[in-house]
Amino acid sequence: MIQRLKGTRDFSPEEMSKRRRLESILREISLRYGFREIQTPVIESSELFVLKSGPGILEEMYVFKDKGGREIALRPELTAPIIRFFVNELSNYPLPLKVFCISPVFRYEEPQSGRYREFVQYDVETIGAETPEADAELLILASDICSKAGLKNIRIRIGHVGIIREKLDEAGVPAERQSEFLHLMDRKKQDEASKFLTDLGIARDVADSIVGVCQISGGAGVLDSLKGERADYMKKVISILKSSGNRFFQVDMGVVRGLDYYTGVVFEIDAPDLGAEKQICGGGSYSLSRLFGGTYVPSTGFAFGFDRLLIAMEKAGWKAEKEHIDAFVLAVSAGESGKMMEIAAMLRDNGIITEADLMGRNISKGLKYAAARNASFAVIVGSKEMAAGKVTLRNMKSGKQVETETSLLPELIKKGGK
Ligand code: HAM
Repeated sequence: MIQRLKGTRDFSPEEMSKRRRLESILREISLRYGFREIQTPVIESSELFVLKSGPGILEEMYVFKDKGGREIALRPELTAPIIRFFVNELSNYPLPLKVFCISPVFRYEEPQSGRYREFVQYDVETIGAETPEADAELLILASDICSKAGLKNIRIRIGHVGIIREKLDEAGVPAERQSEFLHLMDRKKQDEASKFLTDLGIARDVADSIVGVCQISGGAGVLDSLKGERADYMKKVISILKSSGNRFFQVDMGVVRGLDYYTGVVFEIDAPDLGAEKQICGGGSYSLSRLFGGTYVPSTGFAFGFDRLLIAMEKAGWKAEKEHIDAFVLAVSAGESGKMMEIAAMLRDNGIITEADLMGRNISKGLKYAAARNASFAVIVGSKEMAAGKVTLRNMKSGKQVETETSLLPELIKKGGK
């Protein structure tokens, strides 16, 4: 037997029906906010991610050489591909360009519950807006999604990586070394982060005060101690969230994100019920367009881990509707199978979800299959009834059977047999 690869999954019809349901919830909400769906390729030049993703992502990237010797990566995330697409082909659109996509991404991580090597992200980007309103709108959308998903126990932690970088600049930490500090803080290694700074020759008290800023967390009031343009920007974002009635957020200056491209407000959403892999969403503002050959276009976005969101929803009690079919058509004997297929086609033309018996089953086995497929009705095609232009319609729930004109079937089935 050939096994599927570690960290990848097969999805059964029941699982796919749940996943499609969640996709349609996400599409519906995104469209309501004016985001437009796009798609980008699964494979990209690996340099797209090498330029600014940071060591965490690069270590986990699937990279291979194609037959032309080009270095190709399976995309580990969607932001860089979307901005590449924007720079190359979408830059004439009126700004902000608000887009979303729901697509698989790949990271070579150690698999565990909620952590896969192939997983789906629901990614949203507002390209070309650098205002507190643009950041706040994304936070409101993300929190709206959590509410629609029935998640009551979540935390939205908001920080500002620009404020931390500003402190690092003031202390004289070279720009190219700052990400190392941020990665240590992202992994909550405060002592190592502080040592990293003193090793660079930064005075102990300055190092401690930078680490101290990263430890600021709590309600909006904790921002009072921070001054300057960036702090004011963040205060405005928080005040918009407060007036939108958002209850889930808290300030956490320790949110610095694992990817290197962020420049401003950043945030993460946790669903603590998920245990170790509790982060269901992450995002923030950044600018990648110049790096990919375009002009400076500030952007902001986020990505939900689709699979984690689904697990969190199920833990919170969400149940997708059970799969069902409206009608199962079966022939009493082989002589009626042509008519059976004709009736199935007629029902489908009328928008009725219909299966026909493809196995030449007898009635009792056919009805068993219909029940297993959660069919509302069975349509039994027999030679005697057929001669009179009729069939038997069986209500699968009550077991009640009526003889009816074939032409009346669509209406009867739609009305639930009444
Ligand atoms: P990220 O935090 O690397 O951000 O990933 C976003 C989300 O993907 C995470 O919060 C998590 O829920 C999910 N995720 C990450 N790794 C795995 C995994 N191995 N298995 C299952 N789920 C996982 C980004 O990718 C940024 N591009 C987000 C963004 C968009 N920033 C701005 N725009």
